[in-house]
Amino acid sequence: MSNTDKTHAQWSNRFAYILAATGAAVGLGNIWKFPYIMGENGGGAFVLVYLFCIAIVGIPVMIAEVYLGKTGRQSPMRALGQVAAKYAAAPAWKYAGGMGVLAGYLILSFYAVIAGWACAYVIETAQGQFINATPAEVKSSFDSLTSSAPKLIAWTSFMLLVTVAVVAKGLQKGLERCVRYMMPAMFLLLLIIAGYSASYGEFAQTLQFMFAPDFSKLTIDAVLEALGHSFFTLSLASGVMIMYGAYLPNNTSIVKTSMWIALADTMVALIAGIAIFPIVFANGLEPSAGPGLIFQTLPLAFGHMPAGQFIGSLFFIMLVFAAFTSAIALIESSVAWLVEKKGFSRITSAALSGFGLWLLSLLSVFSFTGASWAELHWFESSMNFFEIIDYLTAKIMLPLGGFFIALFVGWCVKKQDLAMELKLSSLMFLICSNLLKFISPLIILIVFLNLIGVLKF
Ligand code: TRP
Repeated sequence: MSNTDKTHAQWSNRFAYILAATGAAVGLGNIWKFPYIMGENGGGAFVLVYLFCIAIVGIPVMIAEVYLGKTGRQSPMRALGQVAAKYAAAPAWKYAGGMGVLAGYLILSFYAVIAGWACAYVIETAQGQFINATPAEVKSSFDSLTSSAPKLIAWTSFMLLVTVAVVAKGLQKGLERCVRYMMPAMFLLLLIIAGYSASYGEFAQTLQFMFAPDFSKLTIDAVLEALGHSFFTLSLASGVMIMYGAYLPNNTSIVKTSMWIALADTMVALIAGIAIFPIVFANGLEPSAGPGLIFQTLPLAFGHMPAGQFIGSLFFIMLVFAAFTSAIALIESSVAWLVEKKGFSRITSAALSGFGLWLLSLLSVFSFTGASWAELHWFESSMNFFEIIDYLTAKIMLPLGGFFIALFVGWCVKKQDLAMELKLSSLMFLICSNLLKFISPLIILIVFLNLIGVLKF
C-alpha cells in the first residue's frame, strides 16, 4: 500500500476509487428520489434543468472537492483548514468542510431508514406478498411497514450495523471490497429491469414524459429542487468527495475521474426513470405520488406482471446495493474525523459514529410512524423531523456548502497550483476556473436567495 500520510490509507488504484465514488453517488437519490421529484415537477423540463445543473455547477464543484481532499489528505474540515493555511486564507473556510460532514451525517440518519424499507421490500416481494394484490392491499402493506416503529427500527438498525461493520474493516478491506462486487451487480440488475420494463410497460409515453420538456410546468421551486438534487445525487458538499479525494492515489486525474463519476450517476438516474415510469404509466399510476412512489406503485405492477415476483425482488435488491454503497460513504468522513481527532481505532470510531446515527435515525423513524412529537408546527405549516432534515440538507446545507467550496477553490487556491493538478488545456482551465469563481456561486446564490425570499421570481 502506497501511503503518503500516516493517518489514512489510499485506494489501491484509480478504478477502485471510481467504483467507490460512483457507489457513493449512485444511491437512493437516483432510484428513489429522482423519479419521484421528476414526477412531482412535471418531467422533461425538470430533467433538462437537472442536467444543466450537473454540468455547470455539479462537475466543477466535484473537481474542487476532490482537489481539496487530495491536497489536504485529511477529513474535510481539517483538509480545508490546511489548504486555507497554505494560502494564508481565513481559517474559517474550514467550516465549509465541517458543515459537509454534518450534512452527510444528517442525510444518513434518514437514508438508513429508507434503505431499511428497501430491505423489507426484498423479503416481502420474494415471499410473493404482492402477487395479484389490489392497490389497497399494496398501500396497506406500505402503511403497515412505515407506521410500525419496531419494524422500522429493526430494519434501520440492520442497515446501520452492516454499514458500521464494513467501514470498521478499513478502506481497502472494507469499503473497496464491498463496492467491487456490489456496483457491477447493481448496474447489471438495473439494466435487466429497465429492459424488462421497457418491453412490458409504456415505453413511448415514458420517453415523452422524461424528454419532451414542457416549460409551463417549471416553477422556481422546481429549479431549486433540481439544483439541490444535483448536489445530493453527486454526493457533493456532504464531505465524501473531499474524503474520498484524500485517499486518491497520486497519479490519478481529478478531472477525468470526476467526469466519469458524474456521467455514470446521471446515466443511472435516467435509466432508473426508464425502469420505473413505463410500469407507472402502464398501470395508470400517478407519477407524482411522492416518496412512496416506488414502494407503493411498483409492487402493484410487479404483482401483475409475468415473472414479477422475481423481477420485483431483483429490483429491491438493486436498491439495497445502491443505498448501501452510499451509506458506507456517508459514514466514512465522521469515522475518519474520529480517527484523526481522537486517535480512536477505526472499529471504535465506526461503532461510536454508528450509535450516534442510530439515535438520530429515530427522529425520522418516528416521523414516518406519525408520532405527534415528531411533528413540528409553526405558523400555518407543519413539518416532521424527516422533512426538516431533508429540507435542511438538500435545499440549504448542500447548496451553501457547494457555494463556499467553489469560492474557496476559485479564489483562494493559487492558480498555478490548481492548474498543475488539473492538467487541463489552457482553454478548459479557463472555463473551469471561471465556473468555480463566478458562474457556479452565482447560480447557487440566485436560487438560494430566492428560496429564503430575498429575491422573488
Ligand atoms: N448521492 C447519494 C444518492 O444519490 C446521496 C448522498 C448525498 C450521499 N450525499 C452523500 C452519499 C454523501 C454518500 C455520501 O443517493
